[in-house]
Amino acid sequence: MLEKINKIKESALREIETIKNAESLKNFEIKYLGRKSELNQILRSLSEVSEEEKRLIGPQANSLKKELEEMIEARKKVLLKKIDEFDYSLPGLIPKVGHMHPISCFMEKVEDVFVSMGFEIVSGPEIESEEYNFDLLNIPSEHPARDMWDTYYVKFPISPPTGGFAGRGQYPIKSYNSNHKSRILLRTHTSPVQLRAMETRKPPVRIIVPGRVFRHEATDAGHEKNFYQCEGFVIDRNVSLANLTSTLRIFVKRIFGEKIEIRVRPSYFPFVEPGIEVDMNCLICGGKGCSACKQSGWVEVLGAGMIHPKVLEDMSRLGKTKWNPKNYSGFAFGLGIDRFAMLYYGINDIRLFYSGDLRFVRQF
Ligand code: FA5
Repeated sequence: MLEKINKIKESALREIETIKNAESLKNFEIKYLGRKSELNQILRSLSEVSEEEKRLIGPQANSLKKELEEMIEARKKVLLKKIDEFDYSLPGLIPKVGHMHPISCFMEKVEDVFVSMGFEIVSGPEIESEEYNFDLLNIPSEHPARDMWDTYYVKFPISPPTGGFAGRGQYPIKSYNSNHKSRILLRTHTSPVQLRAMETRKPPVRIIVPGRVFRHEATDAGHEKNFYQCEGFVIDRNVSLANLTSTLRIFVKRIFGEKIEIRVRPSYFPFVEPGIEVDMNCLICGGKGCSACKQSGWVEVLGAGMIHPKVLEDMSRLGKTKWNPKNYSGFAFGLGIDRFAMLYYGINDIRLFYSGDLRFVRQF
């Protein structure tokens, strides 16, 4: 029986250390001190054994009982102390349900820079009318400039809705009516939102329009069919090309650092005059040439220019704006967000953004 008592003690000592909560401690107490416990059986059997055995085993069994009671008390204190130390204000376990896509992360950085320069963020419809995507931007139908944007036209089986259906857009397509020849399309750029914002505001305006655009492109490392742009434009008195290039230079340096260089080239967009395109050092190859920069060392990141007076005049003539275009000038730019994000994160193929490959997105 002495051996049995020693075994109970050994096992209790081992077990007590593993106890982490009140419930397990209660079970421990029942197991070692309860009515049906081995120790209790030993104590009860003492009445049936000889006096000599009783004198030998009795003190050992009672001493173990006392030890077990002390053990339980001591463990109770440890557990209570742990509860006291517990900081209830700590956040719970947050389930891993995903995170922001690198394009969204980068878009937020872009928005922060422009907001700090006093720009307002505006969104517009992804499904646009041909009138806003092209005509009112001085690109009439049959104009060769339309070839720059291979367009997805949308066919509605019934007459198109007149508002509220355009995704994030806050400007419903009110201008569409069945007499107008304007078709419905997936916007090829964010520039139509310049017009939609002009309709509801008076100068001075400083606006950026982050959003998704669509083109029927042959895809490669630098071209996607669905990508993101961020339009920006300012209309005020005496706005100049110098204001435009310095705004863009500040933007690029804020994102990429002081050392980064941009290159301004003349370009053509019918809704600006003069028009420019801006390239940036290719950060993926450090200017040596790679597939992302078509071996040139430069990546075209945006188109821009001074808003063409014809655009402002047409908007006024058609009664879409209520202010005198003669008193104002403006600049506009359209950043290719994916191209910038590729440079920022060192991604050499734009298609990775839309691949749905978790091995890629989990790196951000
Ligand atoms: C435009 O879309 C004009 N709306 C930009 C503009 C705005 C000019 C305001 C003047 C005033 P462009 O087609 O060049 O321009 O596109 C602008 C930028 O989008 C490009 O510089 C490039 O960075 C990006 N981009 C163009 N096509 C693709 C494509 N297929 N995939 C990814 N990025 C593209």
